[in-house]
Amino acid sequence: MNRHGHDLDRAAATLASAAHLVVFTGSGVSKESGLATFRDVDGAWAQYDPMDYASPQGFRRNPQGVWEWYAQRRQQMLEVEPNPAHLAIAALENLIAEVTVITQNIDGLHQRAGSSRVLELHGNIHRYKCSRHCRGEPTYLPTPDPFEETLQPCPYCGAHARPDVVWFGESLPPDVWEAAAFAAMTCDAMLVVGTSGAVEPAASLPRYARQHRAFIVEVNPETTPITQIAGAALRGPAGEWMPALLEAVRDIHDAQA
Ligand code: APR
Repeated sequence: MNRHGHDLDRAAATLASAAHLVVFTGSGVSKESGLATFRDVDGAWAQYDPMDYASPQGFRRNPQGVWEWYAQRRQQMLEVEPNPAHLAIAALENLIAEVTVITQNIDGLHQRAGSSRVLELHGNIHRYKCSRHCRGEPTYLPTPDPFEETLQPCPYCGAHARPDVVWFGESLPPDVWEAAAFAAMTCDAMLVVGTSGAVEPAASLPRYARQHRAFIVEVNPETTPITQIAGAALRGPAGEWMPALLEAVRDIHDAQA
């Protein structure tokens, strides 16, 4: 059995005996749906400056350009499907008593795959809000047509509408962050799938889990800062490893039945 085989066995045994699993995901889990990551060589930040397209300053400077970028990404996210990694993560709910997905992604693919508890740390591209929070934070607005390429005004105050996503320099939604930190500190195991662990405070969640004695499994073709605290690493694409892990957990369950 190669190293991965040992790691797969260890990961499956841990998940099979877990009462509460947290699955912490980044853009890598959506790569095999056809969506770009951010920091891979072909990632979004190789083409776009995040300070221009994912910051309040960038939006103030060029609201129409930022609106168009999100409209184009929203169209793409609606056109793609959840991939086998999303589907396997959702199916783990049939084998483990409590599964909490904490995602940095804004694409909504975990929900479309059937995951029932998803904490969206960085918001959701399919939700829009008033950029001035004119009726309290957040002031949600009707979602415009994904093909609407013209910047829309808030119907209440006329300020620019914007996607309900967390930009650089902005705080995470307090209620979501609190629930995510609590889940990380109380879970038995955390599956870390497709994240470079480059962005705080999200990247602290695996450390919180480890500090509270959770077993960490990393699923990623590359090593990351999270690798050093992982008890098992499945080195490769999530779309391949997640179905294999699901099957291995199912086999343990069937053997125990
Ligand atoms: N399966 C699993 N992981 C993959 C795959 C795949 N098929 N392809 C790439 N990856 C891994 C990469 O090796 C990398 O470690 O996914 C990770 C993607 O890292 P980033 O591009 O940095 O994306 P992410 O970790 O989600 O970024 C976090 O940064 O810019 C902000 O708001 C943005 O939510 C994002 C946050």
